Amino acid sequence: MPDKKAKLTVEGHDLEFNVLSGTLGPDVIDVNPLAKSNYFTFDPGFLSTASCESKITFIDGDKGILLYRGYPIDQLATDSSFLEVCYLLLNGELPNSEQFAKFCKDVNRHTLVHEQIRNFFNGFRRDAHPMAIMVGVVGALSAFYHDTLDITNPEHRNISALRLIAKMPTIAAMCYKYSIGQPFMPPQNRMSYAENFLHMMFGTPCEETTPNPVLVKALDRIFILHADHEQNASTSTVRMAGSTGANPFACISAGIGALWGPAHGGANEAALNMLHEIGDVSQIGKFIARAKDPNDNFRLMGFGHRVYKNYDPRAKVMRETCHEVLDAVGAHDNPLFKIALQLEKIALEDEYFVQRKLYPNVDFYSGITLSAIGIPSNMFTVIFALARTIGWIAHWNEMMSQPYKLSRPRQLYTGPTERDYIGIKKRK
Ligand code: CMC
Repeated sequence: MPDKKAKLTVEGHDLEFNVLSGTLGPDVIDVNPLAKSNYFTFDPGFLSTASCESKITFIDGDKGILLYRGYPIDQLATDSSFLEVCYLLLNGELPNSEQFAKFCKDVNRHTLVHEQIRNFFNGFRRDAHPMAIMVGVVGALSAFYHDTLDITNPEHRNISALRLIAKMPTIAAMCYKYSIGQPFMPPQNRMSYAENFLHMMFGTPCEETTPNPVLVKALDRIFILHADHEQNASTSTVRMAGSTGANPFACISAGIGALWGPAHGGANEAALNMLHEIGDVSQIGKFIARAKDPNDNFRLMGFGHRVYKNYDPRAKVMRETCHEVLDAVGAHDNPLFKIALQLEKIALEDEYFVQRKLYPNVDFYSGITLSAIGIPSNMFTVIFALARTIGWIAHWNEMMSQPYKLSRPRQLYTGPTERDYIGIKKRK
């Protein structure tokens, strides 16, 4: 029994709650017993709510720390690989060589998509946003792989996880190929995860592609940096959908929809668009002034974070990677990167940003990096979704492996009180 207690007195009634401690991070007040009283907590935007217990990812936003299963993000981004990180997030421990070889083989077995899935693409407009296609196609996977949809069966859950990790790059690249009218490229299982993705994006049946190893490494790193981020909006969406007993493909599709917004995964595309809009270093002052103006809803995209009130640890690694990629493609004089560097410098010194602890986040640099790799901006959020799929599925699996409750928040109702219906003829 926890020995720390919290007390709340409402209208003379004393209510007592247990205070729970995790292995890291602040203690939480277990307000669950409040449901038996006549009160609810009110926390729009979940600013002070821990929605679940989890062993996967830890963030200390004040210190700028991000750990996957205890391992610091910079160590994983520098020394690990995306598939190893997938294994870690899913299983809790790093694999030994044998386990890793088997995992890679298992993932590779699932890289193809059912031939009928190709037909889905023909139903979309060629100019559709690829995220719109992703939401539809990933949700539709449940119509093809219903042989392993028993969510109470750990083996079924594992196969669904492998299928999602394996098929996301194939589907993402298909979205791109469809938009430019080129044939879909089949996955190449002899290649690494990131290399295969670049091959499916940029290869054609008439020309063999050999992706630049620096770009392959950079993309793998982008995948690692975006792999998980505890209970963010899209992961919480996946968990909420999962709490109804929905199948994993439907849950991940819900997560993709939530990721799309510019306050979340859409920020990397929005950040690059903003750099284009700024256009020249001389215009930065004007945009900073707009960002600070309370009457203007313009925000510096790629700045600020709900949890990080310090430099986003992912942004540090991303910044270095961005330099490496620009060197590799000979684009160091890239005007967008110059604007980005100058913007970062000015914002970091500006009182408005300093006071509000608004630092560049991972998306500030990932957009420029992806663009230098040759990826069009409307694919940025798709790449985020591809990478975050492992986080989503790891959280979904964690939830399914233990007792859970249907997520069903309550509300503070401020609408009309009960009133009688009046027929339309009698209404004024
Ligand atoms: N530019 C200018 N002002 C900002 C910005 C920004 N990017 N972000 C926050 N502020 C101001 C905001 O106006 C408010 O000022 P005031 O106190 O005077 O009203 C204050 O900072 C606090 O902002 P908030 O909206 O209450 O903070 P939040 O935690 O709800 O928002 C955020 C977090 C990420 C939605 C927000 O910082 C933002 O819109 N950033 C730009 C979009 C972006 O880059 N999103 C990607 C997040 S990282 C990727 C991911 O993990 O999904």
